[in-house]
Amino acid sequence: MAVLPPTVHPIQPPSGSQIDFGAQIEGIDLENISDEQFTTIRNALYNHHVVVFKNQQKISPKAQYELTKRFDPAADNYGHGKTIDAKRSILHPDLKTVPHQPQVQIIGNGFVESYEGLENFQLRHPHHRTFHKDRIPDDKDYDYTRFYRWHIDAALYDLNPPQVTTLLAVRVPKGRRQTLLYDDGSGETMDVPLGTTAFVSGERMYELLSPAEQEFVRTIPHTPAPQDSAYTPKASNSQQPPSPPIEANKIKTFPMLWKNPVTGKLSLQIHPSAIRKIHLADGSVIDDLERVREIVYKLQRPGISPQYVYAHDWEEGDLVLFNNRGVLHSVVGAFKPEEVRLFRQCNLAASEPPVGP
Ligand SMILES: [Fe+2]
Repeated sequence: MAVLPPTVHPIQPPSGSQIDFGAQIEGIDLENISDEQFTTIRNALYNHHVVVFKNQQKISPKAQYELTKRFDPAADNYGHGKTIDAKRSILHPDLKTVPHQPQVQIIGNGFVESYEGLENFQLRHPHHRTFHKDRIPDDKDYDYTRFYRWHIDAALYDLNPPQVTTLLAVRVPKGRRQTLLYDDGSGETMDVPLGTTAFVSGERMYELLSPAEQEFVRTIPHTPAPQDSAYTPKASNSQQPPSPPIEANKIKTFPMLWKNPVTGKLSLQIHPSAIRKIHLADGSVIDDLERVREIVYKLQRPGISPQYVYAHDWEEGDLVLFNNRGVLHSVVGAFKPEEVRLFRQCNLAASEPPVGP
């Protein structure tokens, strides 16, 4: 029987949306990917940034890891390092490691009896109240939500940001929607599916800047906080564990714009809660954190308005690959304890740093 070539369909933006990224791929067996098929997947990822494969319930953790690694064959460790430091990392309560495939993590919400060799474990969906000064009152928690925090999947300390993240939806509670409230006084809102993952394009974020701002981000490097971003102190998190000692040679400095390896387009890629310093062209450094955050907020805010946000409506079996060097993303939503959600996530600390303009 002749094998039909795979198809790549751009996602149709919902009415009112101006998103120009996202695609669905059909016709590839992800347990047996030929070189030609992988080229199709890679080109789709770097042209569309978020690619969706439907009905992948059966993909093994090994195949998920191998697909992730194929984007960067020299990479091998999870994006936050070989093992998560269980006592100290704030990521710890949010994820469990697949015992037979340690680069693949289990994330989600609620109590799970058995999965991939793990028994009787509790998952906790990160809640936006951890990162927001003004809380949504508890009695409105299931109706209203916020972006948890916009980010790149990356340690940003010692390790290079992963090229790609793969996310498989194993169990998805359905049926509710929530109203997402922007918390910056803009009054903007979005209607979102429960537990959506929200994506924005770094290329669009760059295009929306004024010519002067574009010149600024083209020429100015920045330094994330000198620790794994999993340890970065956050404004309202009073249970922050002590950070490990900082080693100066592990501190990273990145360009603000990262070049797409396939299209050459430039993407504004700054981890907004991890950025610590901005290095100006005259050699001076802005390290007043309030000022740094003010600058980054002004650069990034236009690109996260509702019309530029892709809120993926998860169905069980969805495998989503995203270009971690071309989008920012955020967890969204608040689940009830009995709403069990189970996802598998994989990304690998990259073998090379991002390339600037
Ligand atoms: Fe993430």
